[in-house]
Amino acid sequence: MTAVIFGSTMGNAEEAANKIAANLGIDTVLNIAETSADEINGFDKLIIGSSTWGSGDLQDDMDAFDFSELNLSGKTVALFGVGDSSSYDDTYCDALGILFDKCSELGANIVGATAAPSFDFTDSKASKDGGFVGLALDFDNYGDQVDEQIANWCDQIRANFS
Ligand SMILES: Cc1cc2nc3c(=O)[nH]c(=O)nc-3n(C[C@H](O)[C@H](O)[C@H](O)COP(=O)(O)O)c2cc1C
Repeated sequence: MTAVIFGSTMGNAEEAANKIAANLGIDTVLNIAETSADEINGFDKLIIGSSTWGSGDLQDDMDAFDFSELNLSGKTVALFGVGDSSSYDDTYCDALGILFDKCSELGANIVGATAAPSFDFTDSKASKDGGFVGLALDFDNYGDQVDEQIANWCDQIRANFS
């Protein structure tokens, strides 16, 4: 069983979570603000996403969550992030990179790396080895690309979550 988990303040990461779940036929979408580690530990695969706030921080609810209570060892996990590559070009989608580091430390098998976005940004914690550690979305400046990005990413990871 797979759950999609999101942290979202204005609703963009929530919208992405719902679209990803609909595309992959996943029934469970959980707001990190309203769920517990116990509930999340009941799923054997996870897709986790967060918007970036502050100066390159996790969204507040995701930031407040105690990841050390999660059992991610050997679990398949895919990650997505939401940010603003124009106003926050040097911390673009940092939340995605922070999620990657936390889940890696807990032994997750992380899938769903992507090519770096083609639009301008100068730095991101989500950028590793020339690519991005998951799906990076920019609703503020490239909202017209979001649906296609999600569709392509879901095609990429579908076999991992079927
Ligand atoms: C005060 C503030 C700080 C932000 N900081 C960042 C940032 O450091 N990096 C980034 O990529 N986006 C940043 N953003 C942009 C948000 O991540 C973006 O608007 C996102 O779509 C919000 O998603 P949400 O509605 O799911 O919370 C910031 C936005 C605000 C208003």
